[in-house]
Amino acid sequence: MKHETILILDFGGQYNQLIARRVRECGVYCELKPYTTPLAQLKAMDPIGVIFTGGPHSVYAPGAPSVDPEIFSWGVPILGICYGCQLLAHLLGGKVVPAQDDSAREYGKTPARFDTGCALFTGLPAGSVTWMSHGDYMEKVPDGFVTAAWSDACPNAAIADQARGFYGVQFHPEVNHTEYGRQMLHNFLYEICHASGDWTMGDFKDQSVAALREKIGTKKVLLALSGGVDSSVAAALLAEAVGSQLTCVFVDHGLMRKNEGNEVQAAFAPWPIHFVRVNAEERFLQKLAGVTEPERKRKIIGEEFIRVFEAEAKKIGAVDYLVQGTIYPDVVESGTGDAAVIKSHHNVGGLPDYVDFKEIIEPLRLLFKDEVRQLGRELGLPEYLVSRQPFPGPGLAIRVIGDITKAKLDTLREADFIFRDEIAKAGLERTMDQYFAVLTNMRSVGVMGDGRTYDYTLALRSVTTADFMTADWTRIPYDVLDAVSTRIVNSVPGINRIVYDITSKPPATVEWE
Ligand code: XMP
Repeated sequence: MKHETILILDFGGQYNQLIARRVRECGVYCELKPYTTPLAQLKAMDPIGVIFTGGPHSVYAPGAPSVDPEIFSWGVPILGICYGCQLLAHLLGGKVVPAQDDSAREYGKTPARFDTGCALFTGLPAGSVTWMSHGDYMEKVPDGFVTAAWSDACPNAAIADQARGFYGVQFHPEVNHTEYGRQMLHNFLYEICHASGDWTMGDFKDQSVAALREKIGTKKVLLALSGGVDSSVAAALLAEAVGSQLTCVFVDHGLMRKNEGNEVQAAFAPWPIHFVRVNAEERFLQKLAGVTEPERKRKIIGEEFIRVFEAEAKKIGAVDYLVQGTIYPDVVESGTGDAAVIKSHHNVGGLPDYVDFKEIIEPLRLLFKDEVRQLGRELGLPEYLVSRQPFPGPGLAIRVIGDITKAKLDTLREADFIFRDEIAKAGLERTMDQYFAVLTNMRSVGVMGDGRTYDYTLALRSVTTADFMTADWTRIPYDVLDAVSTRIVNSVPGINRIVYDITSKPPATVEWE
């Protein structure tokens, strides 16, 4: 399963994963490797091109991250971005200096001019906006290089040695604020590295299916299915590869959204897999009865999940392989390249260490989330499963504030369904990253018809975010909020007041518990 590969040498910049995603979006496979990776290992990857990322350091500082200069004799094209550009210049005999005064430092959107005769800038306008973020700049370009872009404060905003295939940009082409950044990366891949674009999810699917069949042979495979995107796509891939040898254990804890359990089950009906749906609602609700403290709820659910899964695994007997839905950001963030151990604790609420299996398979460990979704589509999973928003492992238990009862869960399920339905009707689904309802444990007085009511307050929550570490509350139009509020109060018994949560994260969190 060898694809044309771009090696991205990671010098610790904040946009490094973004560079990798952009390269993949261009149809070229790439891998991020720490700059400390031995050259022999990098060579073994046989890349068609190398990208040096940005980083927080100065090339002339003692102990600054560097690279074996031998890399320049490989004969593969290199693109240096920001710190990577300065490093390239520094190692090849140019001069990088700290900006003496503020006018030479550049942060943010910066107009620049380009030499469109340079392969990196072919087909682009002569002037456009770039995203700069640097305190050092290149005073002298190395021998053999020419200046290929410049800005007011930066005489060498891009450098090129076209004969050797070495390029450097002081700005960040991977960031959306660089107007033609994607085209520049595309040019690097296709004009300079001569990529053919052999990375598509259709091919990935076919190759993975073949590789999984070969590896697994006639052995048995077990997968814990949560209904989330990653485990669902992993399940579909394994189902395609070795359907009849696969058992998916789907623990339905009764804390799912409306219709969710049935939707997950229906999605897997086309494959001849052994699908075990454990209806554990009663068991979970009994354990949760009277529990109000959020952390205790989470602990009980995590623990119970493991117990149910273990019991099912025991019934199935010895399995050879356990499948995990680890994806590439988990691998990169773990930094060790050995994410298996970490994910067996984090994935699906933390699986037991001692389920009787011989080896872990992680078929998605090279994919970004958007690629996982695309693979899901290739495998024929329905769109509602593939594009679903994140849903926490503890489910609605952390969206019913205070003690949890089946009646409260049913009320919340209905209200949450209406909220999502109205958002879909208004065509706003793609404008928000996560949106849901929360049943508070506060009651207040209302009036319906001619009568007094004393019912629960429902909170609506919606956030817009790139990474869920920070999030902004979504500016949902008033008329949409009005339609949601009217429909819920009129059709869901037990709710007589709706509020909209207008706090961002921080200081709030996305979930209420
Ligand atoms: P918070 O509330 O921490 O949520 O701002 C950030 C994101 O994480 C999700 N979340 C969870 N996901 N298990 C999960 O799998 C959990 O226990 C959990 N708690 C929060 C939350 O839905 C949001 O997307």
